[in-house]
Amino acid sequence: MTVARDTSLGPVSRLVNGILAIKPLANFAKRQARSMMIKRAEAVGVDWRRDAQDLRSRGGELDFDPAWERELEQIQNPDLIYPDYYLQPFHAYEQGNLSWEAATEVEVAAKAVHAQLWPEVGAAGTMKLRRNYLDALNSQLSAAPRDILDIGCSVGISTFTLQTAYPQAQITGVDLSPYFLAIAQYRCQQRSPELDNSPSPHPIRWMHTAAESTGLPDNTFDLVSAFLLFHELPRTATLKILREARRVLRPGGYFAMMDSNPRAEGYVKMPPYILTLLKSTEPFLDDYFTLDIEQAMVDAGFTRPDLTHTSPRHYTLIAQVCGGDEIELDK
Ligand SMILES: C[S@@+](CC[C@H](N)C(=O)[O-])C[C@H]1O[C@@H](n2cnc3c(N)ncnc32)[C@H](O)[C@@H]1O
Repeated sequence: MTVARDTSLGPVSRLVNGILAIKPLANFAKRQARSMMIKRAEAVGVDWRRDAQDLRSRGGELDFDPAWERELEQIQNPDLIYPDYYLQPFHAYEQGNLSWEAATEVEVAAKAVHAQLWPEVGAAGTMKLRRNYLDALNSQLSAAPRDILDIGCSVGISTFTLQTAYPQAQITGVDLSPYFLAIAQYRCQQRSPELDNSPSPHPIRWMHTAAESTGLPDNTFDLVSAFLLFHELPRTATLKILREARRVLRPGGYFAMMDSNPRAEGYVKMPPYILTLLKSTEPFLDDYFTLDIEQAMVDAGFTRPDLTHTSPRHYTLIAQVCGGDEIELDK
């Protein structure tokens, strides 16, 4: 079984790793990366600090609405044991994804990061990326899935996109951050009036659990979707998640992922300074870039995936459970 694409990192990557091994330099790079993102957001008309603060206060008088803490308590799974990799600093946040600061900045960060993809659409780039993913799904899936699992659902942006495309589906969103899930649930309540014109019969189910061991029953989903998950994970976790996805999918079900394309020119030719900033906030990027994920999908029991370019830097891979009959999906 070969899943390593190229285990030898290039000289630029090795140099960058050497720099980031020196703690003060790594901390400097993280601060620079964060301020670059905030500036990038402002350049496309997104007021990072104000939008995050509005979410923390929910537009109320207090800086932080106490309802958040109550909702966090309700959504978090007290029995969950976090994998070690999830407890490390991440995305320039000391507490990684386990804080309100990180949770309330997810949406503005997505707008800032994806604003670069198509300069002509600016902050709308993140929605364009998601629409392109749906186009790839629609062209590959034989019919609309009835049961969908969104792994690494974060604050729900990918989950809501799936719900818009497949309003009749029962969708489950899974994430390790209860803070992110609390925001997802809040956004979901805010969306209800928006959905009133074409109400979805099934409310989204949010689950605080690990994608590598969801606890969900075998053979219960038609589509497992991983939108921007794997570049954030160590290789061992990715391989476990692929096996878990295979387990919960019905015969003939689909596994789809959208993520950075390691072969995209933007990454291959990335200037060392920018690569240093990127890697300072994405500790598992080397693992992701050197994994042959298409082969890993095959090894986990899927067909060889179809590849669609979803942006100049992203691709979508879609595969089907091997050896199953064509799934009976609603037409
Ligand atoms: C970049 S975000 C995904 C973004 C989201 N799907 C979207 O479309 O905006 C990656 C998410 O994966 C979650 N995550 C990381 N490791 C995970 C794991 N093992 N199981 C479940 N969620 C995980 C993180 O908490 C984070 O919310």
